Amino acid sequence: MLKGKHIILGVTGGIAAYKSAWLIREFVKANAEVQVVMTRTATQFITPLTLSTLSRREALIDMFPPAPDQTTDQWTKHVDLSLWADIMLIAPATANTIAKIAHGMADDFLTTLVLALRCPLLIASSMDVDMYRNEITQRNIDILKETGYFLIDPDSGELASGLTGPGRLPEIERLVKIVDDLLHKIHQDLTGKRVLVSAGPTQEPIDPVRFFSNRSSGKMGFALANAAALRGGEVTLVSGPVHLRTPRNTRRIDVVTASEMNEVMQSKFSSSDVVIMSAAVADFSPAHRVEHKLKRGDEVDRRFVVELKGNPDILKTLGEQKTHQVMVGFALETDDGVENAKKKLDEKHLDAIILNNPNVKGAGFGADTNVVTVITADGKIDELPMMSKFDVANEILDRVVTYL
Ligand code: PMT
Repeated sequence: MLKGKHIILGVTGGIAAYKSAWLIREFVKANAEVQVVMTRTATQFITPLTLSTLSRREALIDMFPPAPDQTTDQWTKHVDLSLWADIMLIAPATANTIAKIAHGMADDFLTTLVLALRCPLLIASSMDVDMYRNEITQRNIDILKETGYFLIDPDSGELASGLTGPGRLPEIERLVKIVDDLLHKIHQDLTGKRVLVSAGPTQEPIDPVRFFSNRSSGKMGFALANAAALRGGEVTLVSGPVHLRTPRNTRRIDVVTASEMNEVMQSKFSSSDVVIMSAAVADFSPAHRVEHKLKRGDEVDRRFVVELKGNPDILKTLGEQKTHQVMVGFALETDDGVENAKKKLDEKHLDAIILNNPNVKGAGFGADTNVVTVITADGKIDELPMMSKFDVANEILDRVVTYL
């Protein structure tokens, strides 16, 4: 996959910066084109001349190179590079650069480029063990992951400081393989397509302080939105209440109830090419919404009855209006999974349904992984092994593009 690919290699100021020379050699050997972008501090650890020579392109460091080199198009170079690149890897990434990216700072060429970037970004952190374990660094890493960047965990071992623990840049072969694998998964095959994804739970209010809901975290839907955007899709993500950050390059619309989700999905449906309904929509909501907080009552054997009414089946209604859309639903089943999922596939006029079971370890609600069976309208049934929700998302999108 590396052949002919345009790779940006970001190098920041850590002791492992010298390893970037080997990385460039491996990429060039695989016939990829490499553009190095360094921070000023990286130049303390390895010279720009070395990296420019190996990559056969001038390593870029400053946003505004000093005159007389300065040309009028120099300051838009971050935009040009963003359009040129197929993938970017920052290796090593220091705690400082990670913190800057996590908070949207753009005070040098590398961080400015990251803000303008359209392609996938891999970040291989490397630093001293205590800096890595520091709660602030870990929080920043979480922000980057949720934004849709790919974090590569450091290896454990003896560090330059003499301390032992996680912080070492992984072996060059592993980094090259990770870049290669990601390029395998992500193709620009949704370019120009409008993708509508629903995610998360809905909340159905009983009174101003209580509601019925379920355990959906939104992770499956957000992974789908991230993957679809990385594949060039114009993504609208309709999300119930979740604690996740919006994946990059997606448009997010927040809703609370099933009826709100229904309204938004309906309004976006006709202009969408792909509709993926991964939200766990509440099937029922209280028949009567009380505007004041319900009192607990004093009786010892008090009972409380809430009358429920059925919510609209969003996916079924959309399926009935289907014109050109490729439609994918999910089926959350604990028994007779395939049979029930096939029934939903037919009833809701879907092209594919993704069956998952909340009782299976590593599947369903909250996990970073899922275990799914993909059933397509042509009758094909693919049982997939446990994989990350991002990988599940790409498996689903691989099938979606065959229907487009
Ligand atoms: O969010 P996570 O923590 O990552 O968990 C992911 C998930 C378990 C929520 C996800 O993988 C999943 O299974 N989503 C669908 C859950 C569900 O509601 O399944 P269902 O079998 O009840 O519904 C079938 C399909 O109809 C689903 O696509 C659902 O979105 C849709 N539906 C259901 C009810 C309803 N009133 N309207 C709908 O459109």
